[in-house]
Amino acid sequence: MKVNQAEFIISAVGPSQYPVDALPEIALAGRSNVGKSSLINRMINRKNLARTSSKPGKTQQLNYYRINSDLYFVDLPGYGYAQVSKTEREKWGKFIEQYLMHREPMKLLLHMIDLRHPPSKDDQAMYAWLKHHGVPICIVATKADKIPKGKWQKHIKIIKETLQADKSDPLVLFSSETGMGKEELWSVIEQRIGY
Ligand code: GTP
Ligand code: MG
Repeated sequence: MKVNQAEFIISAVGPSQYPVDALPEIALAGRSNVGKSSLINRMINRKNLARTSSKPGKTQQLNYYRINSDLYFVDLPGYGYAQVSKTEREKWGKFIEQYLMHREPMKLLLHMIDLRHPPSKDDQAMYAWLKHHGVPICIVATKADKIPKGKWQKHIKIIKETLQADKSDPLVLFSSETGMGKEELWSVIEQRIGY
């Protein structure tokens, strides 16, 4: 996809604020700090449209970014961040669950996993939940630049085994730092939305 225009639309705190134009939505989920916002920026060639930070737990709403008049990226709040209170976490959990289960334009969920570490308990629970609810998933293994090339396959294998990943789920190796995986991920997205 050629990105001609990318625009921040809204930080939605509830369904009444979701766009009504029915463009396909590509959502991003993963632990805080896994690189969700950085991936959006890399996909659209912008340094800082999606706000990134070294401080985890910053994204607390559904942040909508419109790409051309083709689709939205929806940056979901990161999970597994201990310093957010339990009640806050549960509230946000419910909100995101509702979105993922019932949001009709949501065509693909990018489940982002840090390539460096085996998926956490939170990652495993999230993946199992997504599969249980039939959410279409593309696994994205992030921060590939931090692992030497010779070890990529070993780490990918650990991710697939730990998540008990469905063989039919695409897995894209990605680096926001180098741009690796960008074209492959665009083609997964395009295929999914029938672009
Ligand atoms: P929350 O919004 O808190 O959930 O985090 P996030 O998942 O949006 O992560 P974000 O994109 O803000 O990235 C967190 C940190 O990881 C930042 O310091 C990024 O620069 C860094 N980072 C993200 N992607 C990569 C990558 O592919 N390679 C490297 N080396 N660093 C990355
Ligand atoms: Mg973020």
